Amino acid sequence: MRVRKAVLPAAGLGTRFLPATKASPKEMLPVVDKPMIQYVVEEAKQAGMEQIIIVTGRGKRAIEDHFDTSYELEDILEKKGDEELLQEIKRISNLVTFCYVRQKEALGLGHAILCARDMIGDEPFAVLLGDMIIDSHKPALSQVLETYYRYKGPVIAVEEVEASEVTHYGVIRPEGLGNGVYKVLDLVEKPSPEDAPSNLAIMGRYVLTPDIFDTLEDTEPGRSGEIQLTDALKNLLAHRPLYAYLIEGKLYDAGSKLGFLKATVELALKNRELGGDFRDYLKGLQL
Ligand code: G1P
Repeated sequence: MRVRKAVLPAAGLGTRFLPATKASPKEMLPVVDKPMIQYVVEEAKQAGMEQIIIVTGRGKRAIEDHFDTSYELEDILEKKGDEELLQEIKRISNLVTFCYVRQKEALGLGHAILCARDMIGDEPFAVLLGDMIIDSHKPALSQVLETYYRYKGPVIAVEEVEASEVTHYGVIRPEGLGNGVYKVLDLVEKPSPEDAPSNLAIMGRYVLTPDIFDTLEDTEPGRSGEIQLTDALKNLLAHRPLYAYLIEGKLYDAGSKLGFLKATVELALKNRELGGDFRDYLKGLQL
């Protein structure tokens, strides 16, 4: 069955990015010239998603407004004759169909996905985390989808990280199947480096089957007292095989301050309009 819906959990409190996220959603922090969540929505669209379900929470209204029509702004730009900006503004609200559901309490990523259950129904779906920007030739979600269609089972995106970094991520125990594909033998959420089953970390893109919902319902709160998607996937392993795909591309964990800075600098350098001047500016800095 074709995957056409994507869930973007965006209800997190953004504690890694305080105080910037005290009153503003972290997903709306601009990376160069657009909010980080727009990179992720554009990736989903490029990968063929038709409907995006954003799981929001209190204080996240700006996300809905960003992807909505802005009559006042469009009117002003039209009167000013700024056709280019007008088209860009219109393009944002016409990207895909958006639906919103609110997660009333921050009970974890697994719980956030459960909130989208009714909107997904009985079909496979993608999950994209809004603070992970992936710069790649082929959209990262398309890479995961290809693996899903080939192996006909849930697939998670992974990347190799330094041993000291595993503690920030879900980590898999892999069995290599070749061409960047792994069979997942086990998963651990944010292990200590000594307990990590490998250095392959889960990187914010998943293609899941609807049986994950029943599994999530039965998953006990895990790390930080939250219902973890990683734990639910581990429970799912008892019923069906699970796969991982080593993403080809540059990944930025833009929900952390350092990751955000790296994304900003590297994407600014690649920006058609700003890249040249920005490169000259950086070269001239007395570091
Ligand atoms: C979540 C997942 C974790 C994954 C990470 C990055 O953690 O629980 O397994 O590795 O995203 O995609 P979070 O960063 O929300 O704490």
